[in-house]
Amino acid sequence: MGLWMLLLLLLHLGVCVSLPAPSNVSISSFNMEHTLRFLPGLDTPSDAHFAVQTSSLRRRNVWRPVAACSQLTARQPCNLTRAFKDPLVHYQARVQAFTATQTSPWTVSGQFQPLTDTVLGPPEVSVSGCGNCLLLRIGVPTTLGRLKDLHSQLVLRVQRTRDGVQFTMSVPYEEEHVIGYLQPGVEYCVKVFVTSFFNTKHVSSQPHCAFTSPPPSRSSLYVVFSLLAAFCALGFLVTGLGIYGGQLSFELLRQRLPKTLSYILLQCQTGGCAPVGLSDCSFTEEQL
Ligand SMILES: *[C@@H]1O[C@H](CO)[C@@H](O)[C@H](O)[C@H]1NC(C)=O
Ligand SMILES: *[C@@H]1O[C@H](CO)[C@@H](O)[C@H](O)[C@H]1NC(C)=O
Repeated sequence: MGLWMLLLLLLHLGVCVSLPAPSNVSISSFNMEHTLRFLPGLDTPSDAHFAVQTSSLRRRNVWRPVAACSQLTARQPCNLTRAFKDPLVHYQARVQAFTATQTSPWTVSGQFQPLTDTVLGPPEVSVSGCGNCLLLRIGVPTTLGRLKDLHSQLVLRVQRTRDGVQFTMSVPYEEEHVIGYLQPGVEYCVKVFVTSFFNTKHVSSQPHCAFTSPPPSRSSLYVVFSLLAAFCALGFLVTGLGIYGGQLSFELLRQRLPKTLSYILLQCQTGGCAPVGLSDCSFTEEQL
């Protein structure tokens, strides 16, 4: 009986464990979504399928099949987000190839801890002006919900567009933030990324730009310039008129003077010069 069992076991090992083991079993993770990838071993028949199992280091040697990854084709990734749901636990996964009659040895992945191994992607960001400040709205991906409790921080890199002057600030992972003490009417761009005490792998967001308050618009600039131009024109006109007016009165004087002079001279010649000349002189003065 025992011999039969041994023979069966040997047969089982010899016949069934004959497929090459999968290779390059790796787990990548982005925003707490975990994906297992692998390559089929060399010379794996094309009708082979692959199964994935996971275990946690707390309960070594207890392997659980991943239901959604029990019939994978070659190079098909396996979503381990549900299987690795505790961010603090160290997990492992393993992959086996199988056909209707054969199986391969298992290939085990490296250790994986969601919290430290995931790459924290950029949050969704929208920025709007609020006077001398910017209002930042952060969208938290649902898979990152738990990170809020795990001492995560948002790092904000704020840059003034005009001259590239920038500063960085760290704030709690909340949905809304006000970045204060900025210059009004000026554009700033904000890049955001997530860090946590346990994790330094992150990807920064694209710059999101906004004016703190509406900048002086083009039309209002035109108004200012045209007003300035109007004032200048008026100034020139007044000065011009003044000069022209001066010239005009001088011209009048020159035209009139010879006449009065000759008149006075004429009076003087006919006699009684002084009294007549004086009265005439005063008369012409008034006229002028
Ligand atoms: C698979 O792993 C081997 C050794 O670990 C490495 O040399 C090879 O580049 C990997 N292949 C791919 C496609 O990643
Ligand atoms: C992986 O599974 C999670 C949880 O079920 C799901 O939210 C996510 O969209 C899946 N990812 C892919 C690439 O299918």
